[in-house]
Amino acid sequence: MSTTQRTAVITGATSEKGIGATTAHRFAREGWAVVILDLDGEKSSQVARSIAEEHGVPAFGHAVDVSDEASVATARDAVAAESAAGNLPPVGAVVNIAGITSPVPFLETTLELWHKVMDVNATGTYLVTKAFLPEMIDQGWGRIVNMSSVSAQRGGGVFGKVPYSSAKAAVLGFTKALARELGPTGVTVNAVTPGAVDTNIRVGSTPEQEAAIADSVPVGRTATTEEVAAAITFLASEDSSYLTGVTLDINGGSHMH
Ligand SMILES: NC(=O)c1ccc[n+]([C@@H]2O[C@H](COP(=O)([O-])OP(=O)(O)OC[C@H]3O[C@@H](n4cnc5c(N)ncnc54)[C@H](O)[C@@H]3O)[C@@H](O)[C@H]2O)c1
Repeated sequence: MSTTQRTAVITGATSEKGIGATTAHRFAREGWAVVILDLDGEKSSQVARSIAEEHGVPAFGHAVDVSDEASVATARDAVAAESAAGNLPPVGAVVNIAGITSPVPFLETTLELWHKVMDVNATGTYLVTKAFLPEMIDQGWGRIVNMSSVSAQRGGGVFGKVPYSSAKAAVLGFTKALARELGPTGVTVNAVTPGAVDTNIRVGSTPEQEAAIADSVPVGRTATTEEVAAAITFLASEDSSYLTGVTLDINGGSHMH
């Protein structure tokens, strides 16, 4: 079965300058059907409609709060209903992009903030993966791509601080342990760790801070969302079949192992 007969489920894919929307377009350009899951259901449907029009692939959008188990189950059931109606091919990839960051210094954080950042980035990855995994195991083929960050590897240093680095590090542990467990199933599990990307996620960041971030990168600039999307679609491709448990850096040299 080629990827043109598969659906990529992508979370966090409605933000205008975001990595998720660019990634969804790139999946569609490569022939995948796409499902857009994000907080705002109407916006998710709109993005799906524009993708269907632009790329001529099946696309479906639905609301989800990735940190809420019931909401994830509702979204999963809606996708299954579309599939059953013949509107979408089977799910072949889950791409966990939904995330939030926080620049709050450690002693000023609250338990509420800690939970919020952990819930969206880490628990969201857990819930969405768990919801769509059985279908991929049944088919004997699947790709899970999780969004971590260079902040998990370097201990922040870009914008997000302790809760964000902790949550994105949890995503790396999750990715590796699940990759090991799913080894024999045909489902691979990988993570990407971008450095600073040119999006609106760094809410409140000043032009001076943005310039300092770019200057700190060996290649002298932040990443484009296309550069991140390219790595993600590679990890979802047939070509990446022997890659699992991998952490793929996309950081312009800002962190080298
Ligand atoms: N921009 C960067 O520099 C950078 C670097 C490394 C990693 N990342 C990660 O990449 C991902 C995308 O970042 P971005 O820069 O495109 O951010 P963004 O803020 O533009 O997009 C994030 C998306 O996630 C969605 N989202 C937030 N909470 C959600 C929830 N509870 N349920 C469902 N959707 C939710 C938002 O609505 C939005 O569409 C995030 O996980 C982020 O941590 C970003």
